Amino acid sequence: MTSTTTAGPALGEIDLSDHDRFVDGPPWAMFDVLRREAPVFWNPEPAGNKGFWAVTRHADIVGVSRDEATFSSEIGAVNLEELDQRQMEIRKSMLEMDGARHFALRRLLQRDFSARALAPYETFLRGLTATTLDAALAKGEFDFVKQVSADFPIRVLARLLGVPDDDADQLIAWGNRMVGNTDPDYADVLADTPESDQYRDLPFRSPAALEVFAYGDELARQRRGGDGDDLVSKLVNRTPEDGAPLTERDFHNYFLLLVVAGNETTRHTISHTMKALIDHPDQMALLQERPELIPAAVEEFLRWASPVYHFRRTATKDVELRGQQVRAGDKVVIWFPSGNRDEAVFDDPYRFDVQRDAKEHMAFGKGGPHLCLGNQLARMEVRIMFDELLRRVSSVEQTGEVRRVRSNFVNGIKSFPVRVTPR
Ligand code: HEM
Repeated sequence: MTSTTTAGPALGEIDLSDHDRFVDGPPWAMFDVLRREAPVFWNPEPAGNKGFWAVTRHADIVGVSRDEATFSSEIGAVNLEELDQRQMEIRKSMLEMDGARHFALRRLLQRDFSARALAPYETFLRGLTATTLDAALAKGEFDFVKQVSADFPIRVLARLLGVPDDDADQLIAWGNRMVGNTDPDYADVLADTPESDQYRDLPFRSPAALEVFAYGDELARQRRGGDGDDLVSKLVNRTPEDGAPLTERDFHNYFLLLVVAGNETTRHTISHTMKALIDHPDQMALLQERPELIPAAVEEFLRWASPVYHFRRTATKDVELRGQQVRAGDKVVIWFPSGNRDEAVFDDPYRFDVQRDAKEHMAFGKGGPHLCLGNQLARMEVRIMFDELLRRVSSVEQTGEVRRVRSNFVNGIKSFPVRVTPR
């Protein structure tokens, strides 16, 4: 399917802070207009928030990501919410740090997330995928999110964290409550309502965070001083390279980040990819005929899916960006899906083409110090999932409506009914 750029909304009608504009999927028309007419766009916000600069061109997103001296992750939050200094301190994980401490915390697990360290998990992942798929395919008709996309990444994470498989459903529920904090189906307390004020000190303003901390504490207690090779043991028994041990708060926020980051994003990539393959049967047939194309096609899957909408930086000084005067303290928000449809980088960007060279996609961020730590793991999961799935099915049909998460942060699919004919 090729779609050409249309006139789209007028600039005055654009509002990327409004979650309701995202319920029918990414607001592509808004992104197209912004890239074309206002690549650094001042987006006002509802009272109480200051507004932000929306950066939508691929090259500018890379530029902002790379320049942490000018666009800091530490002096403000990395989402749109505005926190005071105390809340920033309490809530910050490595995502909300710059410089040496960020580097030291990242290095703590960086090698464990390298392609080489993950290679031995290939057999385990294939086994897990087979179990997930065989159970789903036996049903014939099912919800793809529930049976396939949500199940698999969390089981991988459970294995890496060294927690029982039986806890997987609980981990999924925590992730939903936190990342889905603006969706009434998921959140206990909607983060964009005054009621959530009482949870301002918690990540995602979600009471679920307290449960995740308690769960992590118990794992840490069991593993401290041991020689386990799971990620929790490594976190509690290793010292960061800067010599400063992890505080209790560092551990809480690191643990929570791993539970959340590795869960939703991979799930939504798998769902979006399945949807794209159903909508583009020629591309699905091609991969079934030539499965050797799948590893490279994963980059196109990621470009297409763009599961994370944005992250924010905060300007440390006055700076000019594409002719706009950004002031010190302004929120500068980078929109990854827009970069993934930038016609200056991707030829005919709305064409789903599993043979295109999509390496420049920015689903994991691009070029900066916060580039997704789990990118190799996510790639491996998606590759194995579709390698196993496509060899097992002759066709997949969508049988009902796709329901999406109400969020301008995560481009998520909540339910996706399908019928599958096995080979
Ligand atoms: C398709 C799946 C995934 C997507 C699309 C994704 C996307 C992202 C993005 C956009 C960032 C921020 C990049 C930036 O600001 O420059 C990020 C950071 C991060 N991701 Fe992922 N992610 C995925 C899977 C995972 C997995 C499986 C894990 C680990 C289990 C993970 C762990 C992290 C961590 C720890 C960070 C923070 C890195 C830092 O601050 O240095 N992610 N991810």
